[in-house]
Amino acid sequence: MRFVKIPLSRVYIDSSIKDRILAAVDSENFILGAECKAFEKELAAHTGTKHCVLSSNWTSAVHLLLLALKLKPGDEILVPSHTAFPSIEPIVHAGAKPVFVDVDETYTVDIGDLESKITSRTVGLMPVHLYGHPADLARLQTIADKKGFFWIEDCAQAHGAAWNGRRVGSFGTYAAFSFYPSKNLTVFGDGGCLTLNDGAVAEKVRMLRNHGRKDKYLHEMVGFNMRFNEIQAAVGRQQLAHLDAFNAKRRQAVAWYRERLKGLPQVTLPVERPGCVPVYHMFVVQVEKREELAKFLKEQGVGTGVHYPVPNHKQPAMTALYSDLPHLPVTERIVDRILSLPIFPALTESEVDYVCEKIRAFYERAAF
Ligand SMILES: Cc1ncc(COP(=O)(O)O)c(C=O)c1O
Repeated sequence: MRFVKIPLSRVYIDSSIKDRILAAVDSENFILGAECKAFEKELAAHTGTKHCVLSSNWTSAVHLLLLALKLKPGDEILVPSHTAFPSIEPIVHAGAKPVFVDVDETYTVDIGDLESKITSRTVGLMPVHLYGHPADLARLQTIADKKGFFWIEDCAQAHGAAWNGRRVGSFGTYAAFSFYPSKNLTVFGDGGCLTLNDGAVAEKVRMLRNHGRKDKYLHEMVGFNMRFNEIQAAVGRQQLAHLDAFNAKRRQAVAWYRERLKGLPQVTLPVERPGCVPVYHMFVVQVEKREELAKFLKEQGVGTGVHYPVPNHKQPAMTALYSDLPHLPVTERIVDRILSLPIFPALTESEVDYVCEKIRAFYERAAF
């Protein structure tokens, strides 16, 4: 009897990355130096924007952006509830209100529900390309243009995903990426960036991340220390060079999953919107008897996850702040059914075989 250990995700590490780390150490230049500048340039070029501003993580990058935009108390930003909690935090920190929206069958923002929640206080939209699947960019663009809203693409899980041949991060007024270790592009620690075309906002965010200054001893505004590091930029540049190939491998693994799980009535496979090239940060299926299946897979050496079990409009931090939180039927239904299966570029066909055999074996055994 073979026993395999297959984690939910695995970070890519090789000797060339380790060499780049040592070279960054030898430069004796540790913060916002040549590696950071080059990484910003390469990220902007890969995304297709004029500017990129690195920061210590996605949350700080968006926090700085929203401060630079000078939101007023009572301003509303429409955001899906079904996302990582950090998507919401900078909105609250900047003094605005997150207005929660449901998701569609691709787990991204439901445009009909979003339109129904626009009020005279709405100033912006924050679509999330959850699990690496682009939100409905065409319709978001139309709404933002018509209403004069800014919109921020949450690309934390979607590095390299595309719609109509163009990469996410280049559509919104602004976009933000995360480099947390499980992400499609990582820096072996925390990290994040904004991509944008507005040079004046980029400049303001650069100042805010570095104590409100351009010159070493002249502080034009009260800022923060939310800077980025040379060692991590060196890692990120090496990872970026592999990103498109790694995303193709993730998509290949998903094709194997689809083939092997097809026709299994207890498992609902993810839907792709036409024109989209998702990059499968997560491979999320909906399943019957989720807790029992996850436990069984764990016993068989297969890692799984639930992203996310408690929707944000039900989080205690939100119910303590707001009394008018909505009922979101799709979100509230799927959170009890979603299960993330192992996905990472090095996942092999025989590992996918193993996971799928175990899922089939579970349902053959379970009484239905
Ligand atoms: C969709 C989404 N948005 C935002 C974040 C926050 O990213 P960071 O941890 O870099 O602040 C994450 C990461 O967990 C995420 O998955």
